[in-house]
Amino acid sequence: MDTGGGRGFQANLPIGGTADLTPDDQDRAYPLAVRLRLWRNRQIASPRFRSLLARLPVLRGIANRKANNLFRLTTGFVHTQILSACVHLGLFEALEGTVRSTAALAARCGVPPEHMRHLLDQARRLDLVASAGPDLWILSDAGTVLAADRGLREMIRHHDMLYRDIADAAAFWRGEVGDTELRRYWAYVRGNAPAMMGSAEVAPYSALMRESQAMLADCILTSYDFGQYRSVLDIGGGEGAFLCALGVRHPDLKLALFDLPAVTELASRHLRMQGILDRATLHSGDFATDPIPATHDCVTLIRILCDHDDERALQILSNLHRHLPPGTSLVVAEAMAGDSEGPNLAALYFGTYFAAMGSGRCRTALEIIDLLAQCGFRDATASTSTNPLLAGFVTARR
Ligand SMILES: C[S@@+](CC[C@H](N)C(=O)[O-])C[C@H]1O[C@@H](n2cnc3c(N)ncnc32)[C@H](O)[C@@H]1O
Repeated sequence: MDTGGGRGFQANLPIGGTADLTPDDQDRAYPLAVRLRLWRNRQIASPRFRSLLARLPVLRGIANRKANNLFRLTTGFVHTQILSACVHLGLFEALEGTVRSTAALAARCGVPPEHMRHLLDQARRLDLVASAGPDLWILSDAGTVLAADRGLREMIRHHDMLYRDIADAAAFWRGEVGDTELRRYWAYVRGNAPAMMGSAEVAPYSALMRESQAMLADCILTSYDFGQYRSVLDIGGGEGAFLCALGVRHPDLKLALFDLPAVTELASRHLRMQGILDRATLHSGDFATDPIPATHDCVTLIRILCDHDDERALQILSNLHRHLPPGTSLVVAEAMAGDSEGPNLAALYFGTYFAAMGSGRCRTALEIIDLLAQCGFRDATASTSTNPLLAGFVTARR
């Protein structure tokens, strides 16, 4: 039975609806779990009931916890903006590996000392920084991760676009905000000819993907053994950040990447800088329509399917199925929806993000398995990763 935690019911509602029944009959027509929830909601809606709870010590604790949660939800945008200010002002880099005074941080971040103190107090309340003595500041655990991970900071910076896109929330959910900033940013979701895009269109999102790959690559490589393969082709591999991590983890593996022409140019530069270009083969084209190289025993789709609606995802998978030789392993790794905390958070975030982007879906592993099966892939299996918030896995065979 649902305990009021908000995950919903498996309710079989009466066929034909309940509109012409009296309110009491309507209630009786529902399954027991729904009737209990309706009863409970009526109690909670009553100011007298809430006042009674406040007078009973144990129930008061539960009620206050729920009130705090609701308040946190109501004010979450303030938390986000404090975090955003800390990132934009360079607070985490300023405190990386050290302790500083308010005045020193004010000078480094370019903020008047009084405002800096106020912001630091707010950041302490969010457990981003901690006090290290009178007027001295140090990073907390979360602050340390933010200082160490540039990709995470870049993700937070680029949320400015998402914030503007959903600023009129009701209009956004009514579907009235058409040409969003995120839709312009992720240029390949707009056009019919993504392979014609130039460097100016692909460079911003490619840099973000490169920067934000570190944490994800570690999660993927710790969760899945690519050492069983001879050669891996990363399809939609961006600038090759995952390929670099893969090459370091498995020094004998042959590496290859497939992406849009303008992106493979960036990949060539990045892989050269990382000293891995000699080991890698780069292929450019449109993964939904062009031939896919057939000489690898494993191909990966990392953060690819989620960008696309079902019709487009089926087109991409069908194209892969058409060109890959039987027996090739396919590994899909991306944020996946689910009921546990990490996947539920991922679905909440990406569900809104993809709506703003105007393309894509945060799918469950079962939905991905279904897409793969529709395109003829065999033995599709879901497996968990070391961090289900970051990624889930589905593997299959051509
Ligand atoms: C969300 S990014 C993921 C990049 C990389 N896999 C990662 O996780 O960092 C999607 C990638 O798919 C590429 N892409 C999009 N449409 C494509 C197409 N039609 N053909 C080939 N690559 C495409 C983009 O250029 C981009 O590099």
